[in-house]
This record gives sequence, structure tokens and C-alpha cells, in this order.
Amino acid sequence: MLTQAADGRNARLSALASGVGTPPSEYLRLARATLQDLMARDDLLAGIELKRIPGGYARTLLFGKNGISVWAITWSPGSQTSVHDHHCSCCFGLWSGTLREVWFRALGDAEAAVTGEAIREPGYVACMMPSGPNLHQMLNSGPDEAISIHVYGYDHEVETSSIKREYRIVAG
Ligand SMILES: [Fe+2]
Repeated sequence: MLTQAADGRNARLSALASGVGTPPSEYLRLARATLQDLMARDDLLAGIELKRIPGGYARTLLFGKNGISVWAITWSPGSQTSVHDHHCSCCFGLWSGTLREVWFRALGDAEAAVTGEAIREPGYVACMMPSGPNLHQMLNSGPDEAISIHVYGYDHEVETSSIKREYRIVAG
């Protein structure tokens, strides 16, 4: 039986899933509002056993329906993603800890140069379509674990992740 926390969370995400297929700007607006609402709930992760990988990041599926999948990601100190872009929409919010996000511009299909970076703090929410462009790397450069919540426009039973391509970093 669902806990009350899971019940509320899933009701909100089911409403978002029913909006899949609306124009991208409308879907992104709905996804951002949904993520902001979820992140305002103290009980968002209540009763969920989050996966953890020492030295790496680990994903725990919170919800998957109608072509959206929602994950909590734990980031251990020192963990980082590849430099990557996405084949689907991507909204993420920082739940706890601090993450560094580095942005890139593609130089062909396999190399990318840094264009900027920012520190993401708890409460931060970003929403992007794949054509954004949306080419970045996430790193936990701090001493503490970070946890983020991601709403992706992909079916977790069809795709293994949101990543479209991975890139090597080169000087711009
Ligand atoms: Fe990403």
C-alpha cells in the first residue's frame, strides 16, 4: 500500500504525465511547476531507500509513466557525469547538498569546449528541451553528498538514460 507521501507524489506526477504530448513550452511549464511543488514537500523522499555508489552517482526511480521518468540521484563526493547532451526534455532540481554544473558548446559530434559553470544549491530548478542546446556535465566537488530530483521525457522501460551523446573536453 502506498504511503501518504508516495500517494501525493504520484498523484502530482500522474497529472504531469497526462500532459505529455502538449506543446513543448506548455509541457516544460507544467514540468517546472510540478518539480517545484514536489521539492516543497518535506516528505518527498520519505520511505524511499535511495541507491548509493561510493565515489559515484546512483539513480533511484521514483515514477515512470506515459513517457516520463522521475529519478532521485545521489551524488557522492567526487562523483561526476560525462560531458553529455540529451535526447529528451530534462528538468532537475537540487534537493540537498551542492552540485557544480559546467556548460559546453559542441565542436563536432565528439568534442566540446567549456562555456561556463555554476554552483547549484538546494531549491534550484532548471528545465530544458534537448534542442536547448543542453550540453553539460554535473559534478559533486564538495565534501558532502548531494541529492537531486530529475524529470525526464523518456520511458525508462525503453531507454536506459537521458543521454544522447558523450563528448571529450577540448580547449575552446
Ligand atoms: Fe544531463
